Amino acid sequence: MAKKRINSFIGRIINGNSAEVLSTMESNCVDLVVTSPPYDDLRNYTKDSAWSFDSFKKIAKQLYRVMKDGGVVVWVVGDSVIKGNKSLTSFKQALYFQQVGFNMFDVMIYEKAGTSPPHKKRYFNAYEYMFVLSKGLPKTIHLIEDKPNKWANHSTFGNVTRREQDGSLTPKGKKVIKPFGVRTNIWRYNNGKGFATKDKIAYEHPAIFPEKLVEDHVISWSNEGDVVLDPFCGSGTVAKIATALKRQWIGIEISKEYCEIAKKRLGLECTEQ
Ligand SMILES: C[S@@+](CC[C@H](N)C(=O)[O-])C[C@H]1O[C@@H](n2cnc3c(N)ncnc32)[C@H](O)[C@@H]1O
Repeated sequence: MAKKRINSFIGRIINGNSAEVLSTMESNCVDLVVTSPPYDDLRNYTKDSAWSFDSFKKIAKQLYRVMKDGGVVVWVVGDSVIKGNKSLTSFKQALYFQQVGFNMFDVMIYEKAGTSPPHKKRYFNAYEYMFVLSKGLPKTIHLIEDKPNKWANHSTFGNVTRREQDGSLTPKGKKVIKPFGVRTNIWRYNNGKGFATKDKIAYEHPAIFPEKLVEDHVISWSNEGDVVLDPFCGSGTVAKIATALKRQWIGIEISKEYCEIAKKRLGLECTEQ
């Protein structure tokens, strides 16, 4: 089947199944994916959304094909607990991504400031995984430096040195410690109603992720003008943040109802595939 040029997808919320929509897209054209798929069958999104490991596999293969070399996929996912047993679907997906060719660049943690409801026999769950997958090694990395340094504005105690190839040390003098250093790979966000976004309409979708989480990933793994895709775009969080950060974007969503929510949130027309 002849593939369509990326330009015909840009700036659209496309109502369809991602496996099918992606199969019509040319190869090597997407810089970044930030997305959160359905988690097992934790939520019955709509009758349109039959989610299975087979659906995941089709989408994973298509994602690998449409990503540019060095492109990054951020896959935000949690597990359900069935009769006291964690599903570990997240791990199975991670391993399958490697099987189709992705590099697992990092396994990051999204720590939620608001935990799930208390359980009598289990510690409160307060995290999800953020798998950072890349096609080869990431071509764009802008690490966020916002971790306050304890010794900010102090000089290093001794001289800083550089080890040369022959093993000798070259003195580089003392250095003043910067106010902020690179953050760790555990990111904490306020989630839930009123925190994830200020857009009231977005809460008509039951499982949105925080705008700030998306913003931090878009900054970390892309440049202005890059193409950012969300194949499970729900209420359109990724499209909103990509626009604000001057990236091009594509959203795909299987539910017409959620397409309408995203369309209203972004002020767009919903297009049938
Ligand atoms: C966890 S939600 C994503 C929410 C989104 N991150 C936001 O902030 O609004 C997952 C979405 O994937 C959609 N979905 C499920 N299966 C799909 C498929 N095969 N293709 C496209 N969308 C799908 C669901 O309808 C749901 O809206």
